[in-house]
Formats: sequence, structure tokens, C-alpha cells
Amino acid sequence: MKISFVLNGEPVEIDTMPHRRTLDLLRESFQIRSIYYRCNNRGCGLCLILLDGNPMHSCLIPAFELRLRDIWTMEGISARKEFEDLVAGFELANAKLCSFCAPSRALVAEALLKSALNPDMKQLRFTAEAVKCSCNSTLRIIDGLEKAAEFRRERLRVSKV
Ligand code: FES
Ligand code: FES
Repeated sequence: MKISFVLNGEPVEIDTMPHRRTLDLLRESFQIRSIYYRCNNRGCGLCLILLDGNPMHSCLIPAFELRLRDIWTMEGISARKEFEDLVAGFELANAKLCSFCAPSRALVAEALLKSALNPDMKQLRFTAEAVKCSCNSTLRIIDGLEKAAEFRRERLRVSKV
């Protein structure tokens, strides 16, 4: 089955089995190394991608569902200027991110800031807990997200309400 979609801003096409896992398709056919397989049941969040702007588990998405969709991974968002807000926010919160959870964490953070420039505690906690982390506490991740939101507001010159 031929499937066309946009990957990190570039239109792509592939001939593949319709039920192949998106996780495998992206890793094996497009050299996307920022997503990992760990649990296969929404437990770890290490396989997250942005699908039309929403964080989704690539381990559970069959390839045919990618047709005409817009997909972003860490490889793509880390090249965008706004990515600096995430880096600065987490650094200021002293939340050092290792390469294990950082890619998925950056994606959920980006999705949060796209939908809420002043995220409330419920949104912050939900975002922090979407990805398993063994290096940082949830509170430190929440602090990093809050500071990233401050940098994003400053970039967009929006004051906190
Ligand atoms: S591999 Fe853990 S949620 Fe997909
Ligand atoms: S920063 Fe290392 S697992 Fe999250």
C-alpha cells in the first residue's frame, strides 16, 4: 500500500504493509531514532510522535492511519527556533534530561504550549506524567514546563493572566 504523509515538514511517500507499526516504519524506513519501543501499551510514552499536533503512541498506530497526516518527531522540532524555549525552561528548572525520555518529553511539552500558553496545574501534571522518567521527579518536570511556558510567552510577548 502506498502512503503519503508529511514528516517533519517534508512530504514523503512509502510503499508498505498497511498494518505495520508506525514506530517500526519511522525507525526503519525514515531513520527516526528518537522514538523507542518499551511497553507497547501506552505505559511508557517513549514512542510518542505528534500526529496533526497531538501526542500519539507510535507503537499503536498502524501505517495506513498516517495517510495525508502531519507528523513531527524530535528530529523535526529540535530544528525549530521555539525549541529553545523548552531547553531554556528545563535548564532553569535544573531538570537535566537524558536522551531516553527527552525526545518524547519535548514533543508533549510542545503540544502543551501550542494549546495553552498559561497551562494550569492539571495540564502541567498530565503533560509531565505522559512520559515515564527515571532521572527527574514529576515536580521538577512541572517546574521545567512552567519555565518553558514563560520563555514561550516572552517570545510571543504575551503576559500571564
Ligand atoms: S512503547 Fe511504550 S507507549 Fe509505546
Ligand atoms: S531524563 Fe532520563 S529518563 Fe527522563
